[in-house]
Parts: sequence; C-alpha cells; structure tokens
Amino acid sequence: MEAPEKATNVTWHAHQVNRAERARIKGHGAAVLWFTGLSGAGKSTIANAVETLLNERGVHTYLLDGDNVRHGLNGNLGFSAEDRVENIRRLGEVAKLMVDAGLVTLTAFISPYRADRARVRELLEPGEFIEIHCDTPLATCEARDPKGLYRKARAGEIRDFTGIDAPYETPEAPELVLDSGARDVAALAREVVHYLETHGIVGAADSAA
Ligand code: ADX
Repeated sequence: MEAPEKATNVTWHAHQVNRAERARIKGHGAAVLWFTGLSGAGKSTIANAVETLLNERGVHTYLLDGDNVRHGLNGNLGFSAEDRVENIRRLGEVAKLMVDAGLVTLTAFISPYRADRARVRELLEPGEFIEIHCDTPLATCEARDPKGLYRKARAGEIRDFTGIDAPYETPEAPELVLDSGARDVAALAREVVHYLETHGIVGAADSAA
C-alpha cells in the first residue's frame, strides 16, 4: 500500500536545532531496535529488559509496544493485511521521529511482512535500523500463550491470527537473531546491549554511556 499523500501546499521547515545537536547533549547515538516475531515470542519482555539496562546507564530511550499503541495512535486499526501495513507504516514514521529526537527507540510489533520492515529500514540512515528477530518457534509461543489468544485462534474465535491463519515472514538478513525460545531474557538483553556497544551507539559498560 502506498503512503497516503493527501497534504498539499505544505513545505518542510528546516529547524535550527538538528539531530546532531540533540544527540550531542545526550552523549550517545540514536537508533531503532526493531523487535519482530510471533505473538508470545518475547519481543516486549526482551525490549523491556534492554530498556532497563540502557536506562540504568543513562541512555535516553523510548519503547513503542504494539498492544499499547493499538489503544491510542493506532486504535482505529485491526489485523487485516491492510491494517497491519498501515500499523507498521505509522510506527515506522513515529520511530523515525524518535531517532531524530536522539532516542534509542525500541519497538515491539509482530510486523509480519518483510516489505513493511524493509520500508521502515529505508526511512532511516544506514546502521540506524537494527532488525532483531525474536526467533521463538510457533509451538513454544503457543505453549506459552500468555494472553490465551492462540487457544482462541485455534477455536476459531479470533480470525487472521499470526502463525495460525495469517502469515509471518521470517527476516532474511536481520542484524540479530535471538534464541528467544530457549535462552533467558537477561542473557538476550545483554546480547542486544553488546550489539549497541560494538556498533558505537552506546558506550561500553565501564565508561559513561
Ligand atoms: S502487527 O501484526 O500489526 O505488527 P502488533 O504487534 O501491532 O501486530 O499487535 C500484535 C498484538 O495484538 C499481539 O501480541 C496480540 O496481543 C494482539 N492480537 C490481537 N489479535 C491479533 C491477531 N489476529 N494476530 C496477531 N495478534 C493479535
């Protein structure tokens, strides 16, 4: 789906304070940690743990979570293919604004379509979009079933449920693949923070962030 372009006669304002200046007073880089995977894969839990580690180091962050955003900004969207495309389009734009504001932005959306994730990547500068596949097998997600939604989907009470009767397109070249079906959350969170350290987005643990 093409981005809706209904606004005409609008110009882009260049502001005096740009992202480099915003980043300078924060003392660290900005990027999007884009967690993707099935419902119940651990996206929100791991993103929460990563945000906690970063917050402890004085890194400025924000976590955008699918279930929460669907209560507000995207409250008018459901789970049809078309609505999921629009969900991710809007959230990609929001994430881009947050990176512009200088934040390490964490997102936890199923984001089932490769093309949508690729479009968000295109919105950002090279190195700013860090795709993290929470690679938990469907059987494990279904056994966890933290919200009881798989059971409802199997019973036919929910339609278009990802992994059951709606697709999930596995990332082909993500920056990170997390073994979120087996390893514990703390270890996985450290793995993500290590990636940020080795790519110069945040300082190493023993220096200022
Ligand atoms: S996405 O597919 O559009 O990226 P998003 O991450 O925003 O999904 O929302 C997924 C969450 O909505 C799930 O974790 C689950 O709690 C809830 N949900 C409700 N209905 C569905 C459905 N049909 N498919 C997937 N998740 C659903």
